[in-house]
Amino acid sequence: MVVMRERERRAYIRQYNQGGHRQNQKESAPDIYSKHFFSTEFATLPPQHIVDLFAQTFDKTLSLPRAELKDRIQEVKSLLFDRDYLEAFGSPDKLEAYVVRWTPSRALAYTELFATLEPIAELFKNNLDQLNILCVGGGAGGEVTALGSLAVGQFLEQKRLAKEEAKEEAKEEEEEAKGEEEAEEEAKEEEEEEEKKEEEETDDTSTLAPCVNITAVDVADWTYILGKLQKSLHHCALDEFYLNADDRTDLNAIKDLPLHIESLHADILTYDIEPKLPTYSLITSLFTTNELFQESRAKAMQFLNKLSKSCLPGTLLLIVESAGSYSDIKVGSKVFPIQFLIDYTLLGKDSKSGPWELIESDDSRWFRVDEEISYEVKLENMRYFYRLYQKKE
Ligand SMILES: C[S@@+](CC[C@H](N)C(=O)[O-])C[C@H]1O[C@@H](n2cnc3c(N)ncnc32)[C@H](O)[C@@H]1O
Repeated sequence: MVVMRERERRAYIRQYNQGGHRQNQKESAPDIYSKHFFSTEFATLPPQHIVDLFAQTFDKTLSLPRAELKDRIQEVKSLLFDRDYLEAFGSPDKLEAYVVRWTPSRALAYTELFATLEPIAELFKNNLDQLNILCVGGGAGGEVTALGSLAVGQFLEQKRLAKEEAKEEAKEEEEEAKGEEEAEEEAKEEEEEEEKKEEEETDDTSTLAPCVNITAVDVADWTYILGKLQKSLHHCALDEFYLNADDRTDLNAIKDLPLHIESLHADILTYDIEPKLPTYSLITSLFTTNELFQESRAKAMQFLNKLSKSCLPGTLLLIVESAGSYSDIKVGSKVFPIQFLIDYTLLGKDSKSGPWELIESDDSRWFRVDEEISYEVKLENMRYFYRLYQKKE
């Protein structure tokens, strides 16, 4: 797997150095090594690199004999079918079996979704220095990796733009300076230029200083997996930087990657999350809201009401679930689509008077994995619905 990555990476570097990378992007099929693969201007980690990140982080599990890996995955699947999360996620082996099987596809799908939802992409463009995100049921790392992929993509993009701008300015100033006759004046200008450069450099690091804080709260303990993913995202940023940088010795440029991942092992239905809610700009509940309603409809509603009470105006809340009847909830003798119950609680009876506003949604969206992407285990396509809410003033 590593060999494969290196071979393709070298091919990519060759293409990149010949300048083919950017031209091809527009004209041919999507490039799985492109940070703009997801048909958006927003830079993320490229899809193949997202998958490689899992391949490298969990290479021991992925290189188990096929039958053994299959058995492990099957065991976890049966426990999940019975909603026995604590047992299903009760050991590092089982956690890894789950992650290698299901998380990479989710990470791809979520990266695509986050990058194309403008309010979320904007958060990353404007708030890399101070952005707190809560991922409810996010322990398995799909959304965490996707958010990390956005943070790394934006961080490197901003570094690149800042560098280009500085070069441009230096060039302009050099041209101006040519017209000057007085040597003394030139020296003075050079001095000023130096000072300005220094100031810019300080500004640059201060605006990009940490941090994007992602807290994944989960009833199962995923600390072990999330710790590994955090490390790998940092390595991946380093890799990406070397791949794209013209100055490959500038290690300092990424030492302050603004990304911190926290694992919070707790049941969100009983945990006292309210004091922290005002700190979050984005809350995600991806393929988890349905679980919460199955566990206790009353407590799930209470949780949504806590969000309404304590989140600050402007907070984004993203809910994703399976499209279609998988997401139906039984209330007495009646069956309701889960979005109906969520809307009722967040938007109010008339869909208008509640504390939240629905700003974007799709009842059926497909994510199809590009067949070019290589990974040891099957990558799943996904059909889901999403609803992005924003807290009103
Ligand atoms: C179907 S998985 C979805 C995982 C991930 N969000 C994704 O989309 O790939 C549901 C997750 O919710 C977690 N979960 C279920 N009930 C929970 C609760 N009451 N509090 C916190 N996490 C919970 C499970 O442990 C599991 O990790």
